Amino acid sequence: MQKHERKRAARVKRRPGPKPKADAYRRVFVTRPIAEPALRRLAAIARVDLWDSEMPPPHAQLLVRARPADGVLSMVTDRFDAAAIRALPSLRIISNLAVGVDNIDLAAATRAGVAVGHTPGILTETTADLAFGLLMAAARRIAEGDRYIRDGRWRTWGPKVMLGRDVHGATLGIIGWGAIGQGMARRAAGFGMRVLYLPGRSAARPVRGAPARPAGAGSTKAEPRSLRSLLAESDFVSLHVPLTTATYHMIGAAELAAMKRTAILVNTARGAIVDSEALTAALRAGRLAGAGLDVTDPEPIGTDDPLLELPNVVNTPHIGSASHATRLRMAELAVENLIDVFEGRRPRHCANPAVRMR
Ligand code: DGY
Repeated sequence: MQKHERKRAARVKRRPGPKPKADAYRRVFVTRPIAEPALRRLAAIARVDLWDSEMPPPHAQLLVRARPADGVLSMVTDRFDAAAIRALPSLRIISNLAVGVDNIDLAAATRAGVAVGHTPGILTETTADLAFGLLMAAARRIAEGDRYIRDGRWRTWGPKVMLGRDVHGATLGIIGWGAIGQGMARRAAGFGMRVLYLPGRSAARPVRGAPARPAGAGSTKAEPRSLRSLLAESDFVSLHVPLTTATYHMIGAAELAAMKRTAILVNTARGAIVDSEALTAALRAGRLAGAGLDVTDPEPIGTDDPLLELPNVVNTPHIGSASHATRLRMAELAVENLIDVFEGRRPRHCANPAVRMR
């Protein structure tokens, strides 16, 4: 038992009435309703304070509710900057229901002795499915075709109606050769695509507890390229890097200009990796054929954002990992990360392994 837990336990012991279970001293603030089996499992080992709303807690409320907590089960929409972490002296773990942790100041958490848990591996295939779906939708104008019918604009079959771009046999450039990027490459192999990739630090390592790759899932045969060559040679470019200071606006006007005019950009990583104004300008000017975006900057994208006026952009509302099975598994893993810390271990998936836990 840690020092502050012993103190808290002593305080509670002096209270009259039935002795609470030792676990009841742990408090966890859960910032959104998560899959019920995972929530029940958490409630069995800790006192859970649930923010029971579709909308995230406003930042001030996040701090108020997290203040007495030993752990927070957080979402990508909850900001834990250095000031927030300083304001939460009891906190021992931020367990993010996501693989990405760009909403958390990792250096500040490490300095403060707060472990940061996350959920890699289990969402790889689900996110790659959506990335490939967006690639297909943008290439073959699937969402646009649906709107065309619903708007009553479809008058007849025509040899030039809704022409798109072939996916099979095309070249796919993958920026971010981690697990999801390689999942995208395996899907591309099934379509006879040639795959290029930008070598980088995030090369995929096996993740403990990740589901096995689906049988017959294809190969990850791919050729390394520099960023410039990848952009120039690809018919599709798909982004799979985390958002860091190094990848912020990694795709700007110059990079978009280096792409083929017939190319399509797919982003299922983080909106701010792309300079949104530059993307809008390139699409508007016909310097890029289209985009499939699961993520935007900001999120949610404003309903008056010029990107939404462009017919050659397909949007989804940051749902890369949003399948029933995967979100359940993510919630379970986020709970397991919390349990690890409460039992005195580093979270099994720790985004700041250098942390010396409080
Ligand atoms: C992630 O896991 O980082 C996603 O963006 C949220 O599901």
